[in-house]
Amino acid sequence: MSKITAAITAIGGYVPETRLTNFDLEKLVDTNDEWITSRTGIKERRILTEPGKGTSDMAVEAVNEMLRKRGMDANEIDLLIMATITGDLVFPSCANIVCDKIGAKNAWSFDLAAACSGFLFALETGARFIETGRYKKVVVCGFDKMSAIIDYTDRNTCIIFGDGGGAVLLEPNTEGYGVLDSILKTDGSGREYLHQKAGGSLKPPTHETIDAREHYVYQEGKTVFKFATTNMADVSTQIMERNNLTSDDVTYLLAHQANKRIIDYTAEKMQLPPEKVLMNIQRYGNTTSGTIPLLFWDYEKLFRKGDNLILATFGGGFTWGSIYLKWAYNS
Ligand code: UT7
Repeated sequence: MSKITAAITAIGGYVPETRLTNFDLEKLVDTNDEWITSRTGIKERRILTEPGKGTSDMAVEAVNEMLRKRGMDANEIDLLIMATITGDLVFPSCANIVCDKIGAKNAWSFDLAAACSGFLFALETGARFIETGRYKKVVVCGFDKMSAIIDYTDRNTCIIFGDGGGAVLLEPNTEGYGVLDSILKTDGSGREYLHQKAGGSLKPPTHETIDAREHYVYQEGKTVFKFATTNMADVSTQIMERNNLTSDDVTYLLAHQANKRIIDYTAEKMQLPPEKVLMNIQRYGNTTSGTIPLLFWDYEKLFRKGDNLILATFGGGFTWGSIYLKWAYNS
């Protein structure tokens, strides 16, 4: 029997309507459009402002779009994996809530937390289930409502993050398309540079933690930037080398959209021209688990069967990695 690989066969995405532009941020903190644009590449982000809406509500929109495109019923889903660090509740899993809301009665589901690398970690996990031959339809989501944990008085972080994400369907393929290789890494010693100080078991919520603004993202940007550039470029060039891919063979790079300068550095090390580097950071900012599925969603029409895609990420944890994927259909 031919080897089973996990191919992406449908995509859905969602970003909220409300735009938070650099000019809006100028009114909140001491910053300006010129600084944000030149240092990050971001012009605006989307923010989920409707009361009573959480991460699951964005994911439901995307999964339903994906099911419509594939002509599939939610009851056909075997497994749904949700990459997120901003689930609706501490527990149960956001994935369980999504399955309930879309009516996926035959699926089991769980969350996977790997910050900005969440989608790649979840894609690799989903692909492994498909490769067993036992799972036929696995949904991998990457979503975050970062506005729920961003301090809009902190100019170091509030300029970067936004809300949104996407969902992909994985199905078995025996013709050599889909997820072909991965290099995934974690280094927990990096946690001091990017984390949320309170709200976990180490420091449960108290009046003091709230007064000290400890329920927001804390980031030492310069240090994270240094680790992000070298590590993302390293794994991306490694995955090319070990699959004998030259820059001519790579059709597109889909990199985590945290900072345009980090992506440019990675592309330079891979020797890729700008037209092979997909970007939407200017419109959505950094949506954490959402950036790479949002690239799939935005650029789906560009992809042709057989395209060689390199996915690359770096984020909190530290977590980072790269995936080599051969695209399975003409959109
Ligand atoms: O997705 C998860 C992983 N995260 C990342 O990959 C993010 C990695 N880090 C970064 O993208 C960048 O470090 C930032 C965009 C967060 C910051 O850019 P930077 O070029 O590293 O700036 P910096 O923190 O070194 O600050 C440079 C200067 C400082 O002023 P002085 O000390 O040189 O006078 C800051 O105070 O820019 C100042 N600054 C700002 N000015 C205007 C910092 N933030 C801002 C701001 N607006 N928002």
